[in-house]
Amino acid sequence: MVLVPDPASPRSRSRSSSVSTTNSDVALPSFASLAPSRPPTTVAEEETRVSIPGLEKKVILKIDAGPGCGGVAWAAGEVLSRYISYRYSIDPTILRNKKVLELGSGTGLVGIVAGLLDPSSEVWVTDQEILLDLMEINAELNIPSPIPIPTPTWTTSNITSVIGRRNVHAVELNWGEDLSDSDIPIEEIDLVLAADCVYFEPAFPLLIKTLCDLAPVGKEMDILFCWKKRRNADKRFFSMLKKHFDQITIQDDKIGEKDMYGKQGVSLIKLVRRK
Ligand SMILES: C[S@@+](CC[C@H](N)C(=O)[O-])C[C@H]1O[C@@H](n2cnc3c(N)ncnc32)[C@H](O)[C@@H]1O
Repeated sequence: MVLVPDPASPRSRSRSSSVSTTNSDVALPSFASLAPSRPPTTVAEEETRVSIPGLEKKVILKIDAGPGCGGVAWAAGEVLSRYISYRYSIDPTILRNKKVLELGSGTGLVGIVAGLLDPSSEVWVTDQEILLDLMEINAELNIPSPIPIPTPTWTTSNITSVIGRRNVHAVELNWGEDLSDSDIPIEEIDLVLAADCVYFEPAFPLLIKTLCDLAPVGKEMDILFCWKKRRNADKRFFSMLKKHFDQITIQDDKIGEKDMYGKQGVSLIKLVRRK
């Protein structure tokens, strides 16, 4: 399992975090033993297809065990994808014309599902630099970029027409970093999604800082947070998180889903910023 963030990367060394206990400039300890042990939904194939009820086609995902644990799809991502698809079938306003940001997206699955469900949404799938190519490839595989239509020879217009629109964008976002110079319109984000992002203790305060930055006190927005319980240390994350967010267990999932993912140790909550 590759270290995340990669201490050898000049980019991760040059940026620092302003969060309490962790200094991201210090080389992180090896966390092979802390990282998720086994990808539960895919094996080491080059490509997998994930079926999400509500989507006409399966989501095509290139997977790559090389760039850390995010290169494969995890159960929590699938659970969150199924939930947003189910909620969308009942109330499309959750995505209609919404700006959505996914943290620690890995393959891009959850954000791609959001973008496929509602083409009017604008979605940013984010992760560390090492996963940018994979997220980009997967976004393009499922939602191809516009095709330029050649200008007819008989017109003098130089405006090129296009068909379609790719509403899912892959962007680097390292937890804990200042978001003010991001290409993403951070203040306009309506919905934040995060799946299986709790597994590495030194990253806990970084992730919490990013969640706080995305959801400042008083801003109306939703954060859907899905995680898999692996070890007792995870509790520390949620007790740190409690200072900033109320954690509300999702109750409006499709009947039977919660029991199914609960058996796999996966939980789904909504975070609401405390006043
Ligand atoms: C277990 S994977 C989950 C991937 C995906 N959400 C899923 O459910 O399949 C955790 C993800 O968090 C990302 N991650 C870990 N530390 C990070 C950090 N400091 N900044 C940004 N992303 C980070 C990893 O690169 C990885 O993609």
